[in-house]
Amino acid sequence: MDEDHYAVNRAWWDERAPAHAGSPDYAVQELIADPTRLSDVVRFDLPRLGDLNGKRGIHLQCHIGTDTISLHRLGAAMTGLDFSPESIAIARGIAAAAGADVVFVQADVYSAPAAVGSGFDFVFTGIGALGWLPDVARWARTVAELLRPGGRLFMREGHPMLLAFDVERTDEWVLRYPYFEQPEPGHFDLAGTYVDAEAEFNHTQLREWSHGVGDVITAVLAAGLELTMFVEHDSVPWEALPGRMHRDDGEWRLIEHPERLPLSYTLQAVKR
Ligand SMILES: C[S@@+](CC[C@H](N)C(=O)[O-])C[C@H]1O[C@@H](n2cnc3c(N)ncnc32)[C@H](O)[C@@H]1O
Repeated sequence: MDEDHYAVNRAWWDERAPAHAGSPDYAVQELIADPTRLSDVVRFDLPRLGDLNGKRGIHLQCHIGTDTISLHRLGAAMTGLDFSPESIAIARGIAAAAGADVVFVQADVYSAPAAVGSGFDFVFTGIGALGWLPDVARWARTVAELLRPGGRLFMREGHPMLLAFDVERTDEWVLRYPYFEQPEPGHFDLAGTYVDAEAEFNHTQLREWSHGVGDVITAVLAAGLELTMFVEHDSVPWEALPGRMHRDDGEWRLIEHPERLPLSYTLQAVKR
């Protein structure tokens, strides 16, 4: 029988969610204490987000909801969706403590329209979201189903070119992983996590898929969306290549030659 990739990944996320909530990198206590505070991820994209006041938004793969709550603070009526029950339970607790009226729903991304309906003004997603999904074309069709005509997809994601490099080879740049989407996932063993956290974990296996820039744009266009923005950045909000990056204002950049490699991108598209 085929392995259930989702079950493997859900176990990884469920176990890490409480550690992430306690990590200084997610700054949960600061978010609760200061009602004007935004997550670093949302703050970074403020110049591109536009006016969200009064808009109805859904945040796909919201994890513990720090970005979802930040979008709510920009005036949007927000729903957060994630397949990890632990993440959703923690997100609800943080929102309650922060006094943020945000709805959190536990569901798989591909089942989102069945779980939350449609007619959203915008779909927000990214920062380590797409890589957990096998089929980007199916994801784009799901996004289109969630949006009302004229509604907007807003995503910022780790750049697939960055993710193709071997993280363990700090002496030279070695291409190790696929750039283009492949039918089978990469199998990884990651005992720790991507933020500063003290905890030890039992579930270390995870499965991920790459989606090239062309794969993503083709999928978005084929789903009936019109591309309205594509910007590449020389930074990413997590330490993707330990030993080769430095942190500045919540973003990680290459120490040497940051002009040589895109590390993330912001994409926007509108449903016609
Ligand atoms: C790195 S987080 C991205 C969220 C956000 N950038 C953050 O850091 O808070 C990835 C999230 O995707 C969720 N996820 C992975 N596969 C999923 C799926 N098939 N359906 C819904 N959520 C999924 C995980 O549970 C996790 O919370």
